[in-house]
Amino acid sequence: MKRYGQTLFAGIFITLLWCSMAGAQPVFYPQLSKESRACVECHKESTPGLYQQWGYGKHFRGNVGCYECHGTDTTDRDALKHYNFRIHVIVTPKNCGRCHVTEYTQFENSHHAKAAEILGSLDNELAEVVEGNKAFRGRSALLVNGCKQCHGSIIKIKNGQPTADTWPNDGIGRINIDGSRGSCTACHFRHTFSAAQARQPETCGRCHLGPDHPQKEIYEESRHGIAYFNNKEKMNLESAKWVVGEDYSAAPTCATCHMSATLTQPATHDIGDRISWNNRPPVSVRPEIPDKKLGLKDVLPWKTRRENMKEVCGVCHSSGYVDGFYEQYDGLVKLYNEKFGEPGVRIMKMLKEGNLITKQPFDEKIEWDWFEIWHHQGRRARMGASMMGPDYTHWHGLYEVAKAWYMDFIPEVRERIAKGKRAGGEKVTAAKKLDSYLTKVLNSDNHRWFTGKMTPSEKAEREKERQSFKKRYLRKQ
Ligand code: HEC
Ligand code: HEC
Ligand code: HEC
Ligand code: HEC
Ligand code: HEC
Ligand code: HEC
Ligand code: HEC
Ligand code: HEC
Repeated sequence: MKRYGQTLFAGIFITLLWCSMAGAQPVFYPQLSKESRACVECHKESTPGLYQQWGYGKHFRGNVGCYECHGTDTTDRDALKHYNFRIHVIVTPKNCGRCHVTEYTQFENSHHAKAAEILGSLDNELAEVVEGNKAFRGRSALLVNGCKQCHGSIIKIKNGQPTADTWPNDGIGRINIDGSRGSCTACHFRHTFSAAQARQPETCGRCHLGPDHPQKEIYEESRHGIAYFNNKEKMNLESAKWVVGEDYSAAPTCATCHMSATLTQPATHDIGDRISWNNRPPVSVRPEIPDKKLGLKDVLPWKTRRENMKEVCGVCHSSGYVDGFYEQYDGLVKLYNEKFGEPGVRIMKMLKEGNLITKQPFDEKIEWDWFEIWHHQGRRARMGASMMGPDYTHWHGLYEVAKAWYMDFIPEVRERIAKGKRAGGEKVTAAKKLDSYLTKVLNSDNHRWFTGKMTPSEKAEREKERQSFKKRYLRKQ
C-alpha cells in the first residue's frame, strides 16, 4: 500500500499518466471528478445509506467516485441515460480491472470465473426440471433464486437495464455483457469494497456451506475456526498489508490458506492455486483434469499447488506435522474413491447402458440414493478431511455413505439385476454382466464383511477387539 501513499503527492500528472498506462496499479485521484460530485450531491439525498457506505471505503479516500465506476460512453449496450450522464448499473470485473489488473487477471483465470457453466450438470437438471418449471419469464424461478445467486446468471439487458430474470445477481461466475466473468462484489460488498471483509470466513461461507460443500461448517468446527472466533480482535483484519506470520498469527481464515500472502508468496485471486485434489466429482481427481476441460490457462501441476499450500501451513506448523496431515487426507480420499466412488460409478454406468434403469435422471429412487452418496455424503467426508473437520469426515460423511450404500443402494442394485434377468432379451445379458461385477465388488477386501465372507483371521481379530473393549467398558462401571 506504500505506493499509493507516495503517488498521492504526485498529483494530476501521475493521474493522466496512469490513464494512459493500461495495467498500472491504482492511484489516488487528486480530487473527486466533477461528474462524481454531481452524482454524490444527489445520491446523498436519494440513497443516503449507499452514499455513506462509499464514504467509509478506500475508494472515497482515493477519490474514486460513482462516475469512475458507473460512468460509460454511449456505445455500450447497457448504457443508460441518467440525468445528464450515461451510466451502466452493473460494474463488471473488467471495469474494476482498469485499475486492478492483477486481481482481475487472476480472477478471470480461476474456477470462480467459470462457475456459471453448470448447464447440463445433474444438479442443473434438478433445478430446471425436477424441482422447477418454466413459468418465470420462460425460466425456472428456482434456477434464478437458487443456483444462480451463487454460481452467476447470464446478464441480459433491455432498454439499458438488466432484466429481472438475470439481475439482481452477484454470483461468482456471472456472465457479463462485456464478456468478463463473475462479480467482484461477491466478496467485496458494495459500496465499501473492503479487503478486511473478504478476509473473514463468513464472506466465503455465503456460498461454501450446506449439504454438498460444507466448508463453512467444517471450518467452524475445526481448531482453526475455533482459534479464529476466539481471537478475532487479534487478527489485524483492517491492516492494509496482511501477511500471515507478520501481521497476524492467531489463526488462519479461508483467505489465509487459499488467497492471502505469506512472506514468500504473494496473494492470489485464483483460488485454485493451492488445491491438489478436486473433491467435487463422484471420484476425486487431480485439478489439472477439470481445469483443462474448463479452458483455464497456465494450469499448475497439483504438486506445485500442494507446495504452495504447505508453505502457508509452514508459517504456523512444522513440516513433519504438515506432511503427516497430507498423508492422512490422501488416505481418506483413496479410501472413499476405491471403496465407494469407483465401483458406484461403474455400477451406475452398467445400469444405464444395460437399460436396467431409464435414461431420465432422477425418476428412480436408486438415482437419488447414488446422487446423495457421492454429491452430498461422499463430498462431506473428503472435504471434512481436507480441512480438519472430523465430524464431517465421519458422522456426516463416511458413516452416511456406508449406511446408504449397504442399506439402500446395494439392495436396489440387486433388485434391478433380478428384474433384468426376468425381463428377457438383451436385459438378461446386461443383468448377468452386472451381477458378476457386483459379486466381484462385494467379495473384495473392502466389502466381504457384508456378505459374511471375512477370512477366519479377520473374524478372529474383530472378536478379540470386541472382547477387549467389553472388558475395559465393564471395568469402568
Ligand atoms: C438529480 C439526482 C441524481 C443524479 C445527479 C444522479 N442520480 Fe443516480 N439515481 C437517482 C435516483 C433518484 C435514482 C433512483 C433510486 C431508486 O430507484 O430508488 C438513481 C438511480 C441510480 C442507479 C441505479 C439505476 C437502476 O436502474 O437501477 C445508479 C447506478 C445511479 N443512480 C448512479 C448514478 C451515477 C453514477 C450518477 C452520476 C454520474 C448519478 N447516479 C447521478 C438520482 C440521481
Ligand atoms: C468501485 C466502484 C464503484 C463505485 C465507486 C461506486 N459503485 Fe455503485 N456499484 C458498483 C458495483 C460493483 C455494483 C454492483 C453491480 C452488480 O454487480 O450487480 C454497484 C451497484 C450500484 C447500484 C445498484 C445496486 C443497488 O444496491 O441498488 C447503485 C444505485 C449504485 N451502485 C450507485 C452508486 C453511487 C451513487 C455511487 C457513488 C456514491 C457509486 N455507486 C459508486 C461499483 C461502484
Ligand atoms: C478508477 C480506479 C479504480 C476503479 C475503477 C476501482 N478501484 Fe478499487 N481501488 C482504487 C484505489 C486508488 C484504491 C486504493 C485506495 C487506498 O489504498 O486507500 C483501491 C482499493 C481497492 C480495494 C482495497 C480496499 C481495502 O480495504 O484495502 C479493493 C478491494 C478494491 N479497490 C476493489 C475494487 C472493485 C471490486 C472495483 C470494481 C467494482 C474497483 N475496486 C474499482 C481504484 C479503483
Ligand atoms: C449456496 C450457494 C450454491 C447454490 C444455491 C448452488 N451451488 Fe453449486 N456450488 C456451490 C459451491 C460453493 C460449489 C463449489 C464447492 C467446492 O468447491 O467444494 C458448487 C459446485 C457446483 C458444481 C460442481 C462444479 C465443479 O467444478 O465440479 C455444480 C455442477 C453445481 N454446483 C451446480 C449447481 C446447481 C445446478 C445448483 C442449483 C440446483 C447449485 N449448484 C446450487 C454453491 C452453490
Ligand atoms: C472469492 C472472494 C474474492 C473475490 C471474488 C474478489 N476478491 Fe479481491 N480480495 C479478496 C481477499 C480475501 C482479499 C484480501 C487479500 C489479503 O490482503 O489478504 C482481496 C483483496 C483485494 C484487493 C486489495 C489488494 C491489496 O494489495 O491490498 C483488491 C484491489 C481486490 N481484492 C480487487 C478485486 C477485484 C478487482 C475483484 C474482481 C475481479 C476481486 N477483488 C474479487 C477476495 C476476493
Ligand atoms: C458467490 C458464491 C461464492 C463465494 C462468495 C465464494 N465462492 Fe468459492 N466457489 C464458488 C463456486 C460456485 C465454486 C465452484 C466453481 C466451479 O468449479 O464451477 C467455488 C470454488 C471454490 C474453490 C475451488 C477452486 C478450484 O480451483 O477447484 C475454492 C478453493 C474456493 N471456491 C474458495 C473460496 C474462498 C476462500 C472464498 C472466500 C474468500 C470463496 N470461495 C467465496 C462460489 C463462491
Ligand atoms: C488451514 C487452512 C485452510 C483453511 C482455514 C480453509 N481451508 Fe479450504 N482447503 C484447505 C486444504 C488443505 C484443502 C485441500 C487441498 C487439496 O486438496 O490439496 C482445502 C480445500 C478447499 C476447497 C476445495 C474443495 C473441493 O472441491 O475439493 C474449498 C472450496 C475450500 N477449501 C474452501 C474453504 C473455505 C470456504 C474456507 C473457510 C470457511 C476454507 N476453505 C478454510 C485448507 C484450508
Ligand atoms: C496462522 C497459523 C496457522 C496456519 C497458517 C495453519 N494452522 Fe493449523 N493450527 C493452528 C492453530 C492455532 C491450531 C490449534 C492448535 C492446537 O490445537 O493447540 C492448529 C491446528 C491444526 C491441526 C490440528 C487439528 C485438530 O483438530 O487436531 C492440524 C492437523 C493443522 N492445524 C494443520 C494445518 C494445515 C495442514 C495447515 C495448512 C493447510 C495449517 N494447519 C495452517 C494455526 C495455523
